[in-house]
Amino acid sequence: MTLTRRYRFAASHRLHADPLSEEENRILYGKCNNPYGHGHDYVLEVTVEGVPDSSGQIADRASLDEMVRGQVLSRLDHMNLNQDVREFRTLVPTTENLASLIEKMLLEHWNLPARLARLRISETERNAFELEIAR
Ligand code: NI
Repeated sequence: MTLTRRYRFAASHRLHADPLSEEENRILYGKCNNPYGHGHDYVLEVTVEGVPDSSGQIADRASLDEMVRGQVLSRLDHMNLNQDVREFRTLVPTTENLASLIEKMLLEHWNLPARLARLRISETERNAFELEIAR
């Protein structure tokens, strides 16, 4: 059985790969390469999988929320991803890379009996990314 909790955070970024020229970056990332960056209201869905315990729940919502807030939202919300998040100083902050980073942030301190099964991040109305977490 799975439980999915939905969270929101706002962050800005600029897609730019340092090893490439200005022109190559413009062609590769289009308007997302704009030097001044741009923001997104991201929606993060965290899915955990497990078996209901004696309380009838597969995960304690408050514990999950606290972990997501402490490990993820507090480090991303209202941040400039390129400048404020250490990992993105050397990695382009695409939403694909953001999903992998959130997986790492969560698994490093995972303390729930239910396992992390899936992450889904909506970047815009038209873009959503899903990461299935291997067992
Ligand atoms: Ni963007």
